[in-house]
Amino acid sequence: MDAATLVIPPPPVTPLRWEGDPLTGALLMLDQTRLPQAVVWLRHTGPDSVIEAIRRLAVRGAPAIGIAGAYALALAARQEAAQTAPVESFVGALEGHAARIAAARPTAVNLPAAVARHMRLVQGRRQSPAATAHALFEAARELERYEREACAAMGRFGAAWLWGRTRFLTHCNAGSLVTSGIGTALAPIYVLKASGQAVHVSADESRPLLQGLRLTAYELTEAGIPHQVLADGAAASLLRSGAIDAVITGADRICANGDVVNKIGTYGLALAAREHGVPFMVVAPLSTLDPHTACGADVPIEQRPEDQRAYLDARALPASLPAYAPAFDATPAALIRCFVSEAGVIEHPDKKRLKVWLRAAARFR
Ligand code: MRU
Repeated sequence: MDAATLVIPPPPVTPLRWEGDPLTGALLMLDQTRLPQAVVWLRHTGPDSVIEAIRRLAVRGAPAIGIAGAYALALAARQEAAQTAPVESFVGALEGHAARIAAARPTAVNLPAAVARHMRLVQGRRQSPAATAHALFEAARELERYEREACAAMGRFGAAWLWGRTRFLTHCNAGSLVTSGIGTALAPIYVLKASGQAVHVSADESRPLLQGLRLTAYELTEAGIPHQVLADGAAASLLRSGAIDAVITGADRICANGDVVNKIGTYGLALAAREHGVPFMVVAPLSTLDPHTACGADVPIEQRPEDQRAYLDARALPASLPAYAPAFDATPAALIRCFVSEAGVIEHPDKKRLKVWLRAAARFR
């Protein structure tokens, strides 16, 4: 199947968009903590509420938090530019905001990478604060545009590789809610459907925050894609039953050796997929590749005991129960059948095969 002939549908949902002009406008953000019960839009006019939204997962997923972080930096610059301070103190204040934005979540590389890259537009230049704020806004808008187009390319490449397969298993949510286009892991599925192929998705619920049950099911419903949800613990037996043609996930960070850090539970899924001979595909833009992190063991894994406590509490269990609460895990490259990015497909990834992509990913650092 020729990737170029495949059809790109519109995204079923959009997690964030800028409204108005750069000087007076605001960042609108769909509050994903409220889905699917309520569709609530947050309106951000300064960086602090964006940082808070990233921390509490109102916006989430690697590319989306990179884009949100870029807009937060532009909002911080606009806020500081209005203070009429000298350029030196403007840059100093902006560096403080940048450090707080980049630290809002530690695991997905897109957030600190976007903030560091956009800060380089500021440092060492003697342009006015207003001009800097404008440049940061344009950089955020460009990142949003880039990620949208990357989704379309990933959808095409992934769909061409998967052509003929119809039954997919995914983990967490890696669709249009995690970026500015049609998604990462779900993009090939949307393209397959738009190109006339029958598809069915099984979505792991993804504990403790239930991104699969709440968010993947929500956007698949919006897209009109037949699906079912399952407990994470049911995935291995589903794979053994022969009812799945491919497992597809996104990534929060892909290391230089091809190890993939993604939502907790991904590693177990990859082990089960290998055991049962089901191909495991990881779909992520080049902005998620981290040439500076050698392997999965070097990635800071976010711990979220508060989510685990809230999960227990919501089920009337004592939130004081001791909990092991990593939000992500690392899957060794050897378990991955193929990577899909906007640059194409790499089968059986390792450091050598990833070399060209790692060099291309340097532009996002
Ligand atoms: O904690 P979350 O919901 O931000 O975790 C998101 C994931 O793990 C996604 O699978 C990942 O970001 C890949 S989708 C770009």
